[in-house]
Amino acid sequence: MNAITANDLCRVNMNLEQPTTLYAEQGHRIFWLGNTDQTAFRCNTYLIVDLHEAILVDPGSKQYFSQVMQRVAQILPPEKISGMVLCHQDPDVAASMTDWLEVNPSMRVFTTPRTQVLLPHYGRSDYCYYDVTENPVYTLPSGACLKFVEAPFLHFPGAFVTYDAQSHYLFSGDIWAALSLDWALTVDSFDEHIPKMDLFHLDYMASNLAARGFVRRIKHLAIDAILPQHGSLIGPQHIAAALDYLRRLRCGTDIIYADIESNHGR
Ligand SMILES: [Fe+2]
Ligand SMILES: [Fe+2]
Repeated sequence: MNAITANDLCRVNMNLEQPTTLYAEQGHRIFWLGNTDQTAFRCNTYLIVDLHEAILVDPGSKQYFSQVMQRVAQILPPEKISGMVLCHQDPDVAASMTDWLEVNPSMRVFTTPRTQVLLPHYGRSDYCYYDVTENPVYTLPSGACLKFVEAPFLHFPGAFVTYDAQSHYLFSGDIWAALSLDWALTVDSFDEHIPKMDLFHLDYMASNLAARGFVRRIKHLAIDAILPQHGSLIGPQHIAAALDYLRRLRCGTDIIYADIESNHGR
């Protein structure tokens, strides 16, 4: 297979009937598993395959479990999935967790302690929990590694993102998520994408302080693509604008309690 990197993303052909390769180089591959949901809240599930390891990122709701499993089966036997990254416990991210554990009970669950407290409410707690806060780097068989960075209050207190150090792709969960009926796999015009991100961020994200604090945490990472859980993927030409969007974002309590802020806390 020819190498595919972030610079190819804008030319990647999407077919909803099969997985879409987003990155492929040296035994390390990343797929978008597609979703035929017709709502504006459509969810992205990704798969990282690294030699004999295969890790789902944000496996998604129960509703789409069989569809996601079909896409996985087009790449490898689903029971070979060795782990899943759950960036927080929302059902659109994590409700299929128990179905995946039926497929392979030894699957590792990569998440934060605050998320881990809540996940057993889906009905199972007998799984292998990998604490991404205590162990923020996970080395894959090829030597490539995943780095986990907490993103407090974006939107869950224990939310986190996953940075793939080989591809330089950032799996951002709900951060940079966009809501829209009309969408393409990758962002073309960032300016036109902003209102679609605003629809999500203004209501869900906690505050400008949380957003700026997160940007500071990731500013040392070389990011070539952002892969959010909702909406289009953000390619290399828009990364600077995407970081700037978060720096400037006024959302959540900035808006709800705008009068308190303007009175300096009184
Ligand atoms: Fe969420
Ligand atoms: Fe979400």
